[in-house]
Amino acid sequence: MLVVAIDGPAGAGKSTIARALAERLGIAHLDTGAMYRAVTLAALRAGLHGDEPAVAGIARRMTLDVGTHVLLDGEDVTAKVRAPEVNVAVSVVAANSAVRDELRDRQRAWAAAHQGGVIEGRDIGSVVFPDARLKLYLTASPRVRAARRVAEHGGDVDAIEADIARRDGHDERRADGPLTRPDGAEVVDTSGMTIDEVLDEIERLLGERESR
Ligand code: DC
Repeated sequence: MLVVAIDGPAGAGKSTIARALAERLGIAHLDTGAMYRAVTLAALRAGLHGDEPAVAGIARRMTLDVGTHVLLDGEDVTAKVRAPEVNVAVSVVAANSAVRDELRDRQRAWAAAHQGGVIEGRDIGSVVFPDARLKLYLTASPRVRAARRVAEHGGDVDAIEADIARRDGHDERRADGPLTRPDGAEVVDTSGMTIDEVLDEIERLLGERESR
């Protein structure tokens, strides 16, 4: 099973790179951030977002299909999981250990069903797939990350930089599965790189691993 684990802070280019890398390698791609976002959306809709056990129950009961679209109990919520309310609330849901346990189980089951894949998130190389063939930690300067978000979704670069910094802080400080550079991960700073340059570098690193 070929698993490439990609972790790193928001806006480092994980999703763009993970999607393109999966295509180059001819394997599946899983955005685990979309899973945390879907649980958050469901919790907000139920008005239960602050209630940890209730949110964990929602996570356990929901049917969730994350591919090119995000399907929550059969409903296409691809755009809705990117809404500002979800951006604000997702850190709290991502700090809920019972939710994390449930989503990690689903991520491992997904990988088994797809014979591996490119899996992106915050705790993929550190917790979910510590034995991944290749572990990457993608990063970029906060300013570059904010500018990329603005290019993709619009908005004010200073406000987005502040929001990114707030979410990074939450992700790095939480007790369960904090954002960290996993042991054995290759760090790639994408700040001054094009997408193709990043992909070429990753393929080179993968080739290096495979020849060992
Ligand atoms: O990558 P993203 O911005 O869509 O992630 C949304 C949130 O989910 C973010 O606050 C980090 C969190 N997350 C996590 O805690 N663990 C993961 N494996 C993926 C995302």
